[in-house]
Amino acid sequence: MDNGPIWLDKAIFYEIYPQSFYDTNADGIGDINGITRKLDYIKDLGCTALWLNPCFQSPFGDAGYDVEDYYTVAPRYGTNEDLVNLFQEAHRRDMHVLLDLVPGHTAVTHPWFRESMKAEKNEYTDRYIWTDSVWAEPQEMGCIRGISDRDGSCAVNFFSHQPSLNYGFYRPAPDCKWQQAMDAEGPLATREALKDIMRFWLKAGCDGFRVDMAGSLVKHDEEGKGTIALWQDIRQFLDKEFPKAAMVSEWGEPDKSLVGGFHMDFLLHFGPSHYNDLFRCDEPYFSRRGKGSAKEFVAAYRENYEKVGDRGLICIPSGNHDMDRLARRLDPEEMKIAFAFLLSMPGVPFIYYGDEIGMRYVENLVSVEGGYGRTGSRSPMQWNKGLNAGFSSACKEKLYIPQDESEDRPNAESQSADICSLRSEVKRLIAFRQKHPALQSRGSITFLQDGCPLVYERTSGSQRIRVVINPSREGAAIPDTSGAILYKVGNAAEIRDNTLHIAGGTAVFVEK
Ligand code: NOJ
Repeated sequence: MDNGPIWLDKAIFYEIYPQSFYDTNADGIGDINGITRKLDYIKDLGCTALWLNPCFQSPFGDAGYDVEDYYTVAPRYGTNEDLVNLFQEAHRRDMHVLLDLVPGHTAVTHPWFRESMKAEKNEYTDRYIWTDSVWAEPQEMGCIRGISDRDGSCAVNFFSHQPSLNYGFYRPAPDCKWQQAMDAEGPLATREALKDIMRFWLKAGCDGFRVDMAGSLVKHDEEGKGTIALWQDIRQFLDKEFPKAAMVSEWGEPDKSLVGGFHMDFLLHFGPSHYNDLFRCDEPYFSRRGKGSAKEFVAAYRENYEKVGDRGLICIPSGNHDMDRLARRLDPEEMKIAFAFLLSMPGVPFIYYGDEIGMRYVENLVSVEGGYGRTGSRSPMQWNKGLNAGFSSACKEKLYIPQDESEDRPNAESQSADICSLRSEVKRLIAFRQKHPALQSRGSITFLQDGCPLVYERTSGSQRIRVVINPSREGAAIPDTSGAILYKVGNAAEIRDNTLHIAGGTAVFVEK
């Protein structure tokens, strides 16, 4: 495998939650045409690619991560033609689009599951993981049981209405006949069905996939060996039929996912990455209180970075639809420093819609479509000062999720017109990154200091840029720093006598 499509070298992704982005037909919910209408906004920010959360037919018990038909856009978002049109309009602007692929489970309403629930054997009997008696539960996994004539319990992958598709067991237990090997007929058929779905959308013009729970497919596979082998097989299929397709995994263990053939893997808010230490804990590193620490994050990042080498890219998102908004813990000036970090790290940056204007987490919402605590991070985009912040012309009660009610809620239009806004800073930082290969996806990184300030050097060819990130309110001096300050975010910085003097709340980029 090579290192992925060339456009990843300079890619900046924008994650879009389709139901909350822009509503063009006044039904209170965002749609595909709404995304197409806003492509110029995204391009103006400097983003080069989109990741769309699932937009397929679904009962929406988990906001679309419970797919009922992988081949059809949910009517509430529009049609397959609208989606193809979005691909084309994006390509016309030299942008790329990744769809969200949910390979681990479906909705209970998926026709495969309906067939597989039947007592008599059929093509889909082994499409899901069923035990051979309703009294036997699949250990270590939750299950659905007692809902049909089939005498068995079906394993679930996430919520209890998301039955696990059957890709087999890495080590089937000899005394459990229902645990099938990865190369048994049922698991192989599931794998081929997955390839068919990918083929369909890649042929339609999408540029690849973000893969949901990519590490979860093969069961009883603690070290991930079976799941890695499965993805390697899919990589071979892609190399042969769609060599340009880009793949990013929700896995959080880049040493596994990238070996499996993914080009990119996310650092996530769960697992051992210490990502939360930076933005989402009681004392986040990026708070000006200066009480947080980046040490463990840097240690974990370094470990991953060394293990992975040039096999692929580690991606640090600003947020996503599963975690708190950045603005829940950080104010706009602190977020500017956080973005100076996010946009100067190796790998491909992902910006969650609305984070560029510091949209807030909306507190105390009743759960919408299986969002629970995540609902507050999924509220409709705030475009302007108009009705429903310009998201929709429906009456307020019809909006998919209630919006931030504050009078001073941020909006894209005002921030675009204000050079001091968070959005303007994010836009400048992206443009700055795009001018300097050392700062882009594949420039290397060496950490020089993991405290506060955080100091690292990014290098590509003969270009070497020292990045100094000082989120706390205390100023600092960084010795052995000479060269030109190319760019600064925040307060003040100057180089005197081979030393960088940096004020609190400041980030600088120094060319060596
Ligand atoms: C991860 C997705 O990001 C999340 O939103 C979803 O609920 C689960 N996977 C289950 O698909």
